[in-house]
Amino acid sequence: MRGAVLSISLLAGLAAVTAIGQAREDPRKESNGSAQAGATTIVQTCSACHSLKYIAYNDLLNLGIGKQQLDELRGDNDLLSHIAAQLPEDVAKETYGVIPPDLSLMASAREGGADYIYRMLTSFYQTPQGTTDNHAFAGTRMPDILGISYATDQQTVSQIRQTAHDATAFLEWAADPKANERVTLGYYVIGYLLFLTVILYFWKREIWKDVTD
Ligand code: HEC
Repeated sequence: MRGAVLSISLLAGLAAVTAIGQAREDPRKESNGSAQAGATTIVQTCSACHSLKYIAYNDLLNLGIGKQQLDELRGDNDLLSHIAAQLPEDVAKETYGVIPPDLSLMASAREGGADYIYRMLTSFYQTPQGTTDNHAFAGTRMPDILGISYATDQQTVSQIRQTAHDATAFLEWAADPKANERVTLGYYVIGYLLFLTVILYFWKREIWKDVTD
């Protein structure tokens, strides 16, 4: 009897742990599609000026980007090299008066995080003086790279918003690339603790059986 109870609860516990773990394998799968699209924008557009010194090309495989797409993205760059800014720092300084900041941790560095980055990318506007400014970052020296301030039709504006959304999703992932793994591990740990509770419950019953009867 004791053996049977123990093996049944063992099996049930293991099944629960596995089921929970598998169901949660990729908790941010939906946003991964957006982050993957964002990787292209970041590598092809933003890295003209910005580096991502904590993200190596190799890391993009963890985001679900395929080997072939990765090879296209990285070109001649080594798999293990980080995403570097194409514009040399001294030239950037001369042109913009400031070195464009590294973007790896930007989503956690700025107040408002990803929301702020999205707002900043989509808040450029033309001033009456014919210059460009930004509602989210007044006086920014970053040019309106995605072009929302001079987009004339709604379709272009929507496309720019989507690109900004994807780039932001990528930066959110980049600031914490292990988030998915951590959440999955958390579910395994909770499952294990539940399983342990069941075992301990039956064990306690077994030990106290003679006393309480
Ligand atoms: C032509 C160069 C250039 C490109 C391309 C560029 N940026 Fe920038 N970016 C800058 C400069 C310069 C700054 C610094 C602005 C300042 O401090 O005034 C900046 C600042 C930023 C900041 C920090 C804002 C803050 O609060 O300090 C973010 C976020 C950012 N860029 C995101 C992006 C993203 C995402 C892309 C690609 C869609 C991009 N940038 C493309 C030049 C560029």
